[in-house]
Order: sequence, then structure tokens, then C-alpha cells
Amino acid sequence: MLKTMKKNSFVCGLVLLTAFNANSSFANEGNVDDYVFTIPDTELDSVLSNYISELGLTPLEAPDQNEMNPALFELGDMLFNDVQLSGNENIACATCHLPDRFTIDQLSLPIGEGGSGLGVERTLDEGHFIARNSPALFNVSNPLYDKLFTDGAVRRSDDGSEIITPSKFLNKRKSGAAKKIVEALDDNLVAYQALFPMLDRHEMRGQQGENKLANLKDKKHKRIWKLIAKRISNNADYWQPIQDAYPGLELKKFNIGHVGRAIAEYQTYKFAATNTRYDQYLKGDLNSLSNNEKRGMIVFSDVTRANCVSCHGGALLSDVEFHNILTPQIGPGKDENKDDRGLGYLEENRDYRFKTPMLRNIALTAPYMHDGAFQTLDDVLEHYRAPRESLYNYADNYFGLTQQFDDLFIETEHNDARFASVSEMIFHKGGLGGDNSGPGIKMTDAEKEVLLEFMLTSLTNQL
Ligand code: HEC
Ligand code: HEC
Repeated sequence: MLKTMKKNSFVCGLVLLTAFNANSSFANEGNVDDYVFTIPDTELDSVLSNYISELGLTPLEAPDQNEMNPALFELGDMLFNDVQLSGNENIACATCHLPDRFTIDQLSLPIGEGGSGLGVERTLDEGHFIARNSPALFNVSNPLYDKLFTDGAVRRSDDGSEIITPSKFLNKRKSGAAKKIVEALDDNLVAYQALFPMLDRHEMRGQQGENKLANLKDKKHKRIWKLIAKRISNNADYWQPIQDAYPGLELKKFNIGHVGRAIAEYQTYKFAATNTRYDQYLKGDLNSLSNNEKRGMIVFSDVTRANCVSCHGGALLSDVEFHNILTPQIGPGKDENKDDRGLGYLEENRDYRFKTPMLRNIALTAPYMHDGAFQTLDDVLEHYRAPRESLYNYADNYFGLTQQFDDLFIETEHNDARFASVSEMIFHKGGLGGDNSGPGIKMTDAEKEVLLEFMLTSLTNQL
């Protein structure tokens, strides 16, 4: 049973709302639930302009095409799609991030090396389930996006001067080899990230006894990376592309940093998604959104309504911070308990926090969340409306519903821990994180519909 909710603890949000509309005839303080539907069509743009300036909503800038290095891009394209980066030469970056399927594999949880087939047709065979969902890669190279992986394992230091990774060898830069790799990585965060799937046994490297890379101990980063770079530079197909991308570089000096940097160039220009109708609207084309989408944008932005912007704000539609939103846990998990404590493995008292995803192209990149627990945006919104119920009832409600598993192997044992560690004020209404019994984000059915419309149609990149 739910405890009685503390009512009215967050009415301060209403002040902002009424301030916006103090002089307008449609201010509807009595029945705020209907607020967005009381705004006449003709007033929507002027109401939205208040949110845009108050919240600093800005369009996302496209990467500058003039700065692209086409030869480096071509090399990156080859490498992103090349199974030679994997121990058993059976999986590429593109197996989990299919460029022609919106940079994902469309599975709740990816199937790593040893599986066969692509996308929803991929089967387990000798392969392994990966603990986390393959995230979409749209706009990953944007400089504002300064933490990669859902726990930020590869990230820029707070002052921006350093890149921190799970590799001591790279971080310390003691040896000449490390220095050369770091130099080739060119202070590019996405380039650093590309080095890590290659180390992971289940994702790309393979199991002991299967190949030379897999036979090396897990900590032998330098050796593993050296062997991979060598494989590439020994392959005659790469000689010309490497020369074009890195003029004057001797083949024997080609290192894993060059691999990562080329893959980063490819991702930067291939996966940019900045021309959504939402961006066009923010750039001043008021006709680019329908009236319902505009209402959805208000629901998304208003502090008294869904207030999604409190985390999905700014140009990226992500604060690039970590929150516990009570996502149900499915799959093998990251630890011996089959659990995934997210940021909790890296920082104290940060259990179950995951990075806020960016939302451009969100309609195209189901399933959702760090473990692909939800198949539709409607499911996501229902979760936000009642996160506690969603968490505890997931096993019953969702059983058999994901496309991927007959048996979801859902982790329910740690739901109490998950719930207990909601320590911040996640949702503006009802006190979840306050008295821990709150109802989550309040929205009426009609508000949910326009919010869905906003997310499904206006956030998709227009080619
Ligand atoms: C077996 C599937 C698989 C393969 C192969 C794979 N990835 Fe991923 N990728 C993932 C998963 C799962 C995550 C999220 C892991 C996490 O956050 O802990 C991820 C995360 C990422 C991210 C960070 C995204 C973000 O928003 O923080 C980037 C960038 C990326 N991968 C690029 C690559 C590149 C480049 C390669 C090849 C070198 C690659 N991936 C190979 C599954 C895969
Ligand atoms: C307290 C911060 C916070 C608020 C408020 C919030 N979100 Fe999120 N959102 C997150 C985090 C963190 C995740 C990732 C959780 C995970 O991976 O388990 C997420 C995930 C999502 C996803 C899945 C994205 C993907 O690529 O998997 C969608 C869609 C989404 N949120 C939409 C919304 C909408 C719409 C609202 C408002 C109704 C909202 N969020 C409110 C933090 C927040």
C-alpha cells in the first residue's frame, strides 16, 4: 500500500507558470491539469517563447563540415565496420551500432561476439548477452557530451583538461607507447571510447583459448591494442587509406590511437542529428511544429507539468548527469548479483544512477533505458507516471513482452535497494525521494498524448 502522499509540497512550481501568463486571458490557475489545452492555438508560440528564454532552450549546432577530414572519415568507416577489431574476427562496432538501423541493434540487450545475424534477427549461438543496451550514437561527439558510457567510465575531468578512462596504462601515460597513443587520440573523447569495446571479452575480444588477443590477461591493454593495430596495418587493404588519412606516417607507427581517432571522425559526421523540426522551431521557423507538438513541448518543459527538461534540458536534451529513475533491471547485469548499480561501481553513494540519454531520434531507437527494459515511448511515460509501481510490477506486467527473450531473467531481488537509493528530488510532484511513496511525474492522459506526439515526430532528424 502507498502511504499518504504529501500534497502541495511543490506548489512553488506554479509561480513560474502563472508568472508567464499573468496578463493573459487563458491563465488557468484553478485547473492546471487542462492548462496546455486552454492555450489558444494562436498563443502557443508566444507562450513557448517564454519557456525558450527562461529555460535557455537552444538548437543543437551541426558539426562544421569544413573541419571534416574526408580521408580520416573513410578510414573510420572501414574500421567501424571491420570484424578484425575483434579477437575472433566475428563482430564489428557496426554489429551493435548498425549505421543503417539508426546506430542501434534494436535489441534490449546486445549479443556479443560469437552470436550470428544482425539486429532483431541476431541469435545467441556461442555468443554472450551484454549487460547493457546498445545506445544510439547520434551526436555522441558533441563537445557538450563530455561523459561516455552510461556510467561515464570515459569522461572529461571537470575542468575539461584531462580525459579519464578505465585504463591505467592510458591515464598514466608513463611509457612512450602510451604517449604515442594519447597523441594519436588527439584529445578526442569519442576516440578514447572506441578503444574499450575491443578489450571486453564478451563484446569483442573472445574467451581464453580462442585467439591471441583473448589469451592475453585482461589488464594487458598495451599488448591487446598493439596486436589489433598490427592486424590492421598488416592488411594491404588498409595501406592506402592509412596513408591518405595520416600522410607521412610509417605503417609500423600506426597505433590504436589512430584507429580510435579515425572511428571518431566517422561517428562525428555520420551520426550528427541536428536538423529536427524541434531545432528548426528553436531557430525561428514557427511553422515547423504542429499545434499538438507545441503543446507537447510545453508539457515537456513546464516545471508544473512533466518537467522533463529538469534532466533532458539544454541543447542536447540531456544534462549529461546521472540519476536513479528506478529503471527495472533485466539481463545478466554487471555484477555477481546480476544487478547493475550504474555509477555506483565508480563512485560512492551513487548506486543505480545512469546517465541521462539525449533524445534526438528517440522515436527510432527503441528499446529504451540502459538495459532496454521498455519497448515503446508509451511504456517509458507510463513508467515515469508511476515509477514505483512500474519497478515492482515489471516482472508481472512485462513478462514475455520483450521481443528478445522468452525468459527475461529479471532482477527483482534488488528493487528495494534501487528504491531506497533514490536520494535526490527526481520528480517534482508527490515527493518521490522525499517520502519515497510519491506517484512520480503527474500528467493527464491528454497531456501524455501530446507529449508522445512531440517526442515521436518533432525530435527526428530530417534528412
Ligand atoms: C557487443 C555490442 C557492442 C559492440 C561490438 C560495440 N558496442 Fe558500443 N556500446 C555497446 C553498449 C552495450 C554500450 C553501452 C555500455 C555502457 O554504457 O556501459 C555502448 C556504448 C558506446 C558508446 C557510448 C555512447 C554514450 O552515449 O555514452 C559509443 C560512442 C560506442 N559504444 C561506440 C562503439 C564503437 C566505436 C565500437 C567499436 C570499436 C563499439 N561501440 C562496439 C555495445 C557495443
Ligand atoms: C531526474 C531526471 C530525469 C527526468 C525528470 C526525466 N528523465 Fe528521462 N531519463 C533520465 C535517465 C537517467 C534516463 C536513463 C535511465 C536508464 O538508462 O536506466 C532516462 C531515460 C529516458 C528515455 C529513454 C531514452 C533511451 O534512449 O533509452 C526517455 C524516452 C526519456 N527518459 C524521456 C523522458 C521524458 C519524456 C521525461 C518527462 C516526462 C523524462 N524523461 C524525465 C532522467 C530523467
